[in-house]
Amino acid sequence: MITKRMADRINLQINREMYSAYLYMAMSARMAEAGYKGIANWLMVQYHEEMFHAMKLYGYLQDQGASVVLEAIARPDFKETGVKELFQHVLEHEKGVSASIREIAALAREEKDYATEAFIAWYISEQVEEEKNATEILQTIDLLGDSAQGNFMLNIELGKRKLTVPVNFAELGGAD
Ligand code: FEO
Repeated sequence: MITKRMADRINLQINREMYSAYLYMAMSARMAEAGYKGIANWLMVQYHEEMFHAMKLYGYLQDQGASVVLEAIARPDFKETGVKELFQHVLEHEKGVSASIREIAALAREEKDYATEAFIAWYISEQVEEEKNATEILQTIDLLGDSAQGNFMLNIELGKRKLTVPVNFAELGGAD
């Protein structure tokens, strides 16, 4: 079992991951409208990654016999229309998620909740990857040049991103 305090904190994280999914879905729509179908693809793959992050937490709560409590998801908050500015927002957003995940790890240590500490280690590593991905895209933008031609090349590159996470959430822990 986990404490009510930990269950509440994990439920909050589910909300934050769902917000991330919603944010990337909105960004994907914005980029598709602007004609950047490849960038929209990358962001929609990211949407699925975030849904996976949320559902892994959901399954963990169920495995621990804790209640899943879903709250309202905030409206996606971004104004950027430029490609570079958009990915700067992505990187800043992911840094915020990393901080949020570290809070859970710290709480697990404080409560000597070794199960949650082991579980959340996956997210700690995942956030290294998330920040790395956004940083590399920003580096690529700088290499190609933040221009129409550069964005066109980036659009082709990001269009190659494939989904690697499961989308059938019934197969995740908790639903069996
Ligand atoms: Fe779920 Fe992008 O962190």
